[in-house]
Amino acid sequence: MKDYKFAIILGILVIVLILVAVGMEWSKSGSSAKSSTPFDLITTFKGDAGTSRAFTWYTNDSNAAGILEFVKGQVASFANSDVLRVEADSSSIKTDKGTRGVHKAEVTGLEPGTLYSYRVGSGVEGEWSTVAEFTTEETGLDSVTFINVTDSQGESAEDFKLWGKTMNKAFQTFPEAKFIVHNGDLTENPEDSAGWDEFFSNIQGWISGIPLMPVTGNHDEVDDDAKYYISHFNLPDNGAKGSIAGTSYSFDYGPVHITVLNTESNIKKQTEWLKEDLKKTDKKWKIVAMHRPAYGGNSYKKVEDWTGVFDKYEVDLVLQGHNHEYSRSYPLRGGTIVPEGEIPKGAYRGTVYVVTNASGRKFNEKKEDQFYHAVHFQNYKQMFAGISVTKDSLTYQAYDVDGKMLDEFVLTH
Ligand SMILES: [Fe+2]
Repeated sequence: MKDYKFAIILGILVIVLILVAVGMEWSKSGSSAKSSTPFDLITTFKGDAGTSRAFTWYTNDSNAAGILEFVKGQVASFANSDVLRVEADSSSIKTDKGTRGVHKAEVTGLEPGTLYSYRVGSGVEGEWSTVAEFTTEETGLDSVTFINVTDSQGESAEDFKLWGKTMNKAFQTFPEAKFIVHNGDLTENPEDSAGWDEFFSNIQGWISGIPLMPVTGNHDEVDDDAKYYISHFNLPDNGAKGSIAGTSYSFDYGPVHITVLNTESNIKKQTEWLKEDLKKTDKKWKIVAMHRPAYGGNSYKKVEDWTGVFDKYEVDLVLQGHNHEYSRSYPLRGGTIVPEGEIPKGAYRGTVYVVTNASGRKFNEKKEDQFYHAVHFQNYKQMFAGISVTKDSLTYQAYDVDGKMLDEFVLTH
């Protein structure tokens, strides 16, 4: 009789324990499905880098509000009256992981050369991002270093770990870098949310403070659709008419003007916009970033008109992607090599075109050498470049993920 009672009590206890465990699991999944905790948080330039900064993040709760709180200086707590609030422009997007919230915020009226702390969330306590910091551009800055990478293009979590490793090495090598230019093909399949989440989470520590300026690749815009790609970035809206907003734009930092072109659509109208954009800038150094190369391991014929514009407006450097191998051209003008000594010292010699290999898992076999190749190789290692520009010089240094420098050149004028 005693054993029988004991068995019943034990049975009830087991059932209760199972129910508690199931309940906890259910409430966990329930709350995460509705959570307004931010993820895929990234900062970008949108307006003047000295006085403004833009941010984008996602939430699983597609109806969550989007709030950004910021304060001057380094702070441990946001519980003081100096905290300023900005409301994000919030919308929703249907994804393969359900409908998610997209939040884009911009902070303006900032002081140049100043550190700010910020956090984002919906206002629900316990669901804020961790506090991050960013620094605005100093006034009158005459030098800058930034990082160039391309084709992270991952599919699996393992692929994106390699991308994270590349970026860690890039910042270890160029800790002074003020921003990143990513030359496109961020993920393999833009409809795969897991890919985007991995892309961001593996570099979260960097991109909550340092802007990543993306270029649209053929894996970012597919059949004139770039909605997933563009939903992740709050970018300058100064691009070409007819282009998907955020796929062509330009921005300045220190002595550099950077024009981002979209090789995937609206090429003709971008040619006109490119002329205007380059004509307008008073920056000494002009850099263009685009995905498919004009002069890489091969050439993308559709963008032929652009190279004439680069010549005319004396673009110094064109950052390219797509080929998943390393290439660097001689200075080119009119499609031919401009020999050293033909141009007076200190004058613009021609445009150099580079492809900084790939930053993720995928590599292509080395393509045939072309007459314009100064350097051309495939080392099957993730690579990155640091580009340092001063008043008088532009230094480009390409490294592999192990920290070995594989190419370097200096342009002066
Ligand atoms: Fe690619």
